[in-house]
Amino acid sequence: MVQFRLPRNSTVQDGVTWPKIDSANIVEFHVYRWNPEDGRNPRVDTYFVDADDCGPMVLDGLIWLKNNIDSTLTFRRSCREGICGSCSMNIAGQNTLACTKAMGEEIGKPVRVFPLPHQPVIKDLVPDLTNFYAQLASVEPWLQTKSPTPQKEWRQSIQEREQLDGLYECILCACCSTSCPSYWWNAERFLGPAALIQAARWINDSRDEATGERLDNLEDPYRIYRCHTILNCAKACPKGLNPSEAIAELRLKLVERKL
Ligand code: SF4
Ligand code: SF4
Ligand code: FES
Repeated sequence: MVQFRLPRNSTVQDGVTWPKIDSANIVEFHVYRWNPEDGRNPRVDTYFVDADDCGPMVLDGLIWLKNNIDSTLTFRRSCREGICGSCSMNIAGQNTLACTKAMGEEIGKPVRVFPLPHQPVIKDLVPDLTNFYAQLASVEPWLQTKSPTPQKEWRQSIQEREQLDGLYECILCACCSTSCPSYWWNAERFLGPAALIQAARWINDSRDEATGERLDNLEDPYRIYRCHTILNCAKACPKGLNPSEAIAELRLKLVERKL
């Protein structure tokens, strides 16, 4: 049964306003906080970042806060250059990567930082992506072959390799899936744009020999057909990819093989 009302203990409350620091270049951050161990509701804390003492991105600001103001602030990050996908969060109402989003883009407004939407929260800005990764695993995102393994590499022409452009760049940040309304309502059964762009990446790979099985795996009323071409995924993708287009091409392949 779908629950339309938020449970009382999930209502976000006003949090702590941390002391202002002495700097000519202060950026105000409003950050979602939730600790599963203190039994309290989530809250939004107000912080002040010294923008003269850190890099220009929102992630730089969060790291500055953790190092200088509040060591309990919890978030994921690794590469700090838009490659690993681990710092994805909702900033100023848009899912994006904190390491490539400039603090200055929100001039005159507080930088509002929340976890990716519609996922359970582990702590503060860290969402639980267990279901997301299980769905990714279900599309078996690796090369599958039946021919004898070649002595050297599996070869691919330049034109065949180009078929992967717009797909292989996906860094699995989950910004798209967690901005997709269909995924919000059917996350257990609709694979979502991130897993589907991965499926397309392997189905389009000229070296892969499991195309039939991969399409069989998608042939289901929910797994792919819950995409309603709303395009939130393409708007959210920090790598400029268009999962919706990849999904449409997969659907075409599903139809074509029946003709
Ligand atoms: S186009 Fe499809 S996958 Fe993308 S946001 Fe819309 S429903 Fe979701
Ligand atoms: S398609 Fe874009 S938004 Fe979606 S997981 Fe890949 S990189 Fe992230
Ligand atoms: S820290 Fe790796 S993408 Fe942001």
